[in-house]
Amino acid sequence: MIKAVIFDLDGVLVTTDELHFAAWKALAERLGISGFTRADNARQRGVSRMASLEVVLEKSDREFSDKEKSALAEEKNDIYVKSLSALSRADVLPGVFEFIDYIKSKGIKAAVGSASKNTPLILEKTGLADKFDAVSCGLDTTRSKPDPEVFLIAAQKLGIDPCGCAVIEDSAAGIEAAKTGGMYAVAVGAAEHDPKADISIGSLESLYKALKIFA
Ligand code: BG6
Ligand code: MG
Repeated sequence: MIKAVIFDLDGVLVTTDELHFAAWKALAERLGISGFTRADNARQRGVSRMASLEVVLEKSDREFSDKEKSALAEEKNDIYVKSLSALSRADVLPGVFEFIDYIKSKGIKAAVGSASKNTPLILEKTGLADKFDAVSCGLDTTRSKPDPEVFLIAAQKLGIDPCGCAVIEDSAAGIEAAKTGGMYAVAVGAAEHDPKADISIGSLESLYKALKIFA
């Protein structure tokens, strides 16, 4: 029985996946890398900032030292955080507030499980901060999805066994992490039709509308 839902953040709760893409694209262009595409960006979904940087740098002929990589990751984060300044409740994806209120009315807990170190800032700016019973993010972890660490920490913070948790994810890495962690995996949006997921939905809005029919 599902006792908790652990939501990924970027691309599941908030439209910030698009801002990540824009910031990585700006960095790629600054480095003279012109062929950075949405297909590349799909491989950045769910994984850490440094792992995302590697996806950009593999398109360059140059080699980068660890020090240069740290500086580039910081450069991208500065661009990204600047783009978050205009973030508001309007950037929360359709159906998110309704779905969270619905599961809570059924006694199911809600948590966030995201690779992003900007999770607290984003939750605050979008009015989502007080909606969750626990938050686990890149500030808590040492390993990136597809390692299940971020979700296992969320389950631990909630005090619920992994088998009682459902993860909602828009990335292949996140779906794999959920399954490795022994959780039920719901693929949404960009991860829709992921064969490793237990179920697949187009959006939280469509799931919420479907649930309401039977409520
Ligand atoms: C994930 C995104 O949620 O967070 C990745 O899907 C991103 O694309 C990762 O790289 C880390 O985010 P941040 O904000 O710590 O750079
Ligand atoms: Mg995501």
